[in-house]
Amino acid sequence: MECHGEQRYTYEDCKRTADWLLAKTKHRPRVAIICGSGLGGLADLLKDQVAFEYTKIPNFPKSTVVGHAGRLVFGNLSGTPSVVMQGRFHMYEGYPLWKVTFPVRIFHLLGVETLIVTNAAGGLNPEYNVGDIMVIRDHINMPGFSGQNPLVGPNEERFGVRFPAMSDAYNQDLRKLAHSVAAEMDCSGCLREGVYCALGGPNYETIAECQFLQRLGADAVGMSTVPEVIVARHCGMRVFGFSLITNKAILDYETKEKANHAEVLEASRQSARTLEKLVSLLVQRIERNNNLA
Ligand code: HPA
Repeated sequence: MECHGEQRYTYEDCKRTADWLLAKTKHRPRVAIICGSGLGGLADLLKDQVAFEYTKIPNFPKSTVVGHAGRLVFGNLSGTPSVVMQGRFHMYEGYPLWKVTFPVRIFHLLGVETLIVTNAAGGLNPEYNVGDIMVIRDHINMPGFSGQNPLVGPNEERFGVRFPAMSDAYNQDLRKLAHSVAAEMDCSGCLREGVYCALGGPNYETIAECQFLQRLGADAVGMSTVPEVIVARHCGMRVFGFSLITNKAILDYETKEKANHAEVLEASRQSARTLEKLVSLLVQRIERNNNLA
């Protein structure tokens, strides 16, 4: 579809990609998981894996960041048919947001009902420590304030309505479930719940920006997730998200430390196992609850 000289994916483009995948695997995922920086190990938990490199999937953009593998992995997670995105697309790589969020529409067409998003984020809340896991209660879409939104352009009614609500973006039942799963794992102490603020990146924030975001009510800051969540909600998927706090945002001028990608990856590596366990137990519990319903 042409929109002011920009080529966009049509519904038919999305359908072609989904049908291509459905023809190549017998898996019919009900849950999709998007892995953040250093969290791609989640895919290794899948049984009966069928994996596709992004470069081989028709229409798929390519991932360009170190720490993001660039594969779509189908399989069973805790017995639930799932699909995992090992590596996501970001605005800072130069992709328009309609490209960043293309995989979410594919998930919808594959029959996925629940999207789980994970990311690495800087902690703005002074009570947060490196290694904490934050259940995302809500988000602030900073690029959206200036019109950078994946739903900009003609609306495709077959996906969703022109003006979707976002006041219930992060499913309350799933958030509650995550807290009970964390209690069972004896890690309630490291599980927080808060507001994720997305910026465009790729530079980390200035001190003034961190202070500003903290005053706005943000608990964590990152460069992803929000576009995918908006598109998932637009097409009626249930959404749940975790941020892994990989560094503390710098909030005063005396601090000599600075955020850097190596530190983010190292912190993800250290807490990745806990997050992976949480996600797999959560998926198991979602499935059990669905069967009860
Ligand atoms: N800021 C933005 N994105 C991030 C950060 C941060 O401090 N840490 C991990 N991703």
